[in-house]
Amino acid sequence: MKIEFKNIVWHQNQVSREDRHQLNQHKSCVVWFTGLSGAGKSTLSTALEKRLYQHGIRSYVLDGDNVRHGLNNNLGFTPEDRKENIRRIGEVSKLFVEAGLFALSAFISPYREDREMVRERFSPNEFVEVYVKCSLDECERRDPKGLYQKARRGEINHFTGISAPYEEPVEPELIIETDRCTVEEAIHQIMDYLRIKNLIP
Ligand code: PPS
Repeated sequence: MKIEFKNIVWHQNQVSREDRHQLNQHKSCVVWFTGLSGAGKSTLSTALEKRLYQHGIRSYVLDGDNVRHGLNNNLGFTPEDRKENIRRIGEVSKLFVEAGLFALSAFISPYREDREMVRERFSPNEFVEVYVKCSLDECERRDPKGLYQKARRGEINHFTGISAPYEEPVEPELIIETDRCTVEEAIHQIMDYLRIKNLIP
């Protein structure tokens, strides 16, 4: 529920986002990775972070597991909690973009409506949705944390793909099929896109 505060007034910074872009010599945006658990969101986002770093581009990975240890440690996996998880991360990503950085946000973010809610907080060229696509069979085969096994045994409620839905993106900016390409190829695909969109030099 949104609360309208009457006595809160927006305070303008004296350093603009454009000033920061000029200082950094690059623009800022959010690269939003969505996909099933085990699809490769963390692998791709951290590999992209490293590649951007090597190119002198300032970025930071926001990752589901990590953010749930702190900022969002009061949220579970019901649809309502996931919505709040994604809303908060969307807002944090926005602060990163304001600060002139690349936010690399890697969250299952299974609901289309929640991802669209975040997209609407950005201008069109600032939000790059990357669908990290991988079949449920393959994710389950990988099962890096043993969570699918637990979910199949009924030990985890609301587990995405097993007992909770994953709604595929309709028109993501990029689709990376992680059961068909290497990490290197995937990073190449993302870097190419960022260059074409003039987000990186
Ligand atoms: S969401 O749906 O966007 O709010 O999820 P997210 O914040 O990305 O957190 C996903 C990680 O939490 C672990 N985990 C679960 N995932 C899905 N469903 C359930 N019920 C669940 N319980 C715990 C899991 O490690 C997810 O990490 P990834 O990296 O996606 O495997």
